Amino acid sequence: MASLTVRQLDERLKKLLRLRAARHGRSMEDEVRTILREAADATGHEALDLIVPPNPPKEGAEQRSVIEADVRHVLLIIGGGIAAYKSLDLIRRLRERRIAVRCILTKAAEQFITPLSAGALTGERVFTDLFDQTSEFDVGHIRLAREADLIVVAPATADLMAKICGGHADDLASAVLLAAGTNVLLAPAMNPHMWANKATQRNLAQLKADGFAFVGPNEGEMAESGERGLGRMAEPLEIAAAADNLLSLEAAQPLKGVRVLITSGPTHEPIDPVRYIANRSSGKQGHAIAAAAARAGAEVTLVSGPVNVLDPTGVKIVKVESARDMLAAVEQALPVDVAIFAAAVADWRVANAGEQKIKKKAGQSTPELALVENPDILSTIAHRTQQRPPLVIGFAAETENVVANAKDKLARKGCDWILANDVSPATGIMGGDRNTIQLVTGAGVEAWPTQSKEEVAAMLIDRIAAARNGAKK
Ligand SMILES: Cc1cc2nc3c(=O)[nH]c(=O)nc-3n(C[C@H](O)[C@H](O)[C@H](O)COP(=O)(O)O)c2cc1C
Repeated sequence: MASLTVRQLDERLKKLLRLRAARHGRSMEDEVRTILREAADATGHEALDLIVPPNPPKEGAEQRSVIEADVRHVLLIIGGGIAAYKSLDLIRRLRERRIAVRCILTKAAEQFITPLSAGALTGERVFTDLFDQTSEFDVGHIRLAREADLIVVAPATADLMAKICGGHADDLASAVLLAAGTNVLLAPAMNPHMWANKATQRNLAQLKADGFAFVGPNEGEMAESGERGLGRMAEPLEIAAAADNLLSLEAAQPLKGVRVLITSGPTHEPIDPVRYIANRSSGKQGHAIAAAAARAGAEVTLVSGPVNVLDPTGVKIVKVESARDMLAAVEQALPVDVAIFAAAVADWRVANAGEQKIKKKAGQSTPELALVENPDILSTIAHRTQQRPPLVIGFAAETENVVANAKDKLARKGCDWILANDVSPATGIMGGDRNTIQLVTGAGVEAWPTQSKEEVAAMLIDRIAAARNGAKK
């Protein structure tokens, strides 16, 4: 069925609709629904009989949706795990925070709790079936996805995680999730062996890279007698707090409309058409920053060297090989409001890279590689007189005297902030998943705790948002 949104109506009709809705104390969408129902009623009861919900919403429920037309809306998808009973409490916890809740139960979830109990707590009809004529007419799976400010999946079963990962849409929950994008919070719950399974961990990594948010699982007793471990669903209060947090973030979008440029990964400097000089940068940190900036509402351009990490969603990606290509792509992306140079750009390239593969010939001496300096991308951009981004941030990968070298780099390169990290092999930072940052600015040095590269990214985005807010005041 074609979908119609109020936004698509012409201005005069919208105005009339707004007045009519206000007169009846309804939201504009509820008003449209009422008009459509009245029209259907007038055109034939046989047709109407097919579309009236078997359990029409109670009067109280109708009243509530009108009163709370402007509250935040969560679509709670309850998967088929033992922890489903806790999701009933989660509904209460969300309602306490004035978050309106609509529920979808998977077929497996119905083995653990009933739509009746979920419906009694939400005060709304509960959705269970993709091919339900009534709900497709009245709400529809695409609208279920669109009308939610946030989708919470609790418990997120191993099966649901795999389905989201694979883009499946063979039941209502997965179809809605596929239509929804990544504004989704998952609260996994499963047996520790299921959680530790490589397939589940692969799916988890993929979903995180795609921008899905997670709460839990926690360590503790399992429902199965005698079992303990990692896999217990986060407590309803924790999930409600995480949802509230995401909803506030969503509303705030601290970098909404801000243009952010990020470089990431290594560069490859050719020796000849088949050989190159590279470094151990994985691109994990730069890509995590790009994902965090996109989540904060920024318009992100990610200039990436050759990496094996997944492309973050919601960003424009420009893929390059060499330092010179990277500089050209960066200059092409200007003007921007913030530029973050996380790529490990090769300092040197081979002076005369062979146009053909260099051959090993018997009796000939080993070829010598003469190196020349590559352009310094950070310094070039930070010293621009035109279109210099108002905030230029560099990374300093050091193996000794981390802070002293970073302070020196800040002055030499003319950038505003440096994120310094110790990349000595013992730290495992280069290519690893965690990072220990010292933020060096004109105001001083801030030591950040050792944390995941995603957490570093989130912290950096917070600092950027705070700095921009401070500058505006
Ligand atoms: C008693 C019982 C408990 C289960 N508990 C869980 C669980 O906690 N987590 C999980 O991922 N799967 C659990 N399962 C398996 C799921 O119910 C099964 O994978 C189902 O297909 C999930 O469907 P859904 O993802 O559509 O909800 C359990 C199965 C049974 C029989």
